[in-house]
Amino acid sequence: MIQKIVIFASGNGSNAQRIIDFFKPQPKVQIVAIFCNNPEAYVIKRAKLENIPCRIFSRTEFNDNQIVLQEIKTLNPDLIVLAGFLWLIPKSFISEFPKQIINLHPALLPKYGGKGMYGSNVHKSVIENHETETGITIHYVNEDYDKGNILLQAKCKVNKEDTIETLSSRIHELEYEHLPKVIDKILSA
Ligand code: GAR
Repeated sequence: MIQKIVIFASGNGSNAQRIIDFFKPQPKVQIVAIFCNNPEAYVIKRAKLENIPCRIFSRTEFNDNQIVLQEIKTLNPDLIVLAGFLWLIPKSFISEFPKQIINLHPALLPKYGGKGMYGSNVHKSVIENHETETGITIHYVNEDYDKGNILLQAKCKVNKEDTIETLSSRIHELEYEHLPKVIDKILSA
């Protein structure tokens, strides 16, 4: 039986790419669609190059009239992966797909989580607070921003010389290493 993944992404989509590449040799796992809220996002180009349907949606379609939810229900995915997706998931999604939505966060939650804490904002705060370590968290999504059960955390050092860019690339390496494996583990359970 084929297992289906839907990815939500808002920007570059380098994590989405890693997931696509990881599962290419596994025909039993398919990335059936990428959902994107940002018409300028590079992930749209990636989807096109990979022949994966990409759905660009508005806030109204996501939050108000539940069109996106209806479309996802039709796709009937085994897992929904938020890979660099920056909008809060509506409660209706969570009750429809309990324990089937996971999120990638670029910090060691509960530190540097919550509203406004995404991407480079997180790394900027980590550097400004002189943290000596940071990392990534992969967790289930529930109604509270960044507060669902944690599946995996991985750490890295923060150096005195780090800039947002150097820290971001170290974090991305950790994400590339762990996110596909965590997805694989969930689907194999
Ligand atoms: C990743 O670092 C991810 O952890 C972060 O956005 C980046 C997306 O990179 N997600 C969040 O901040 C969610 N709160 P990518 O588009 O290259 O995969």
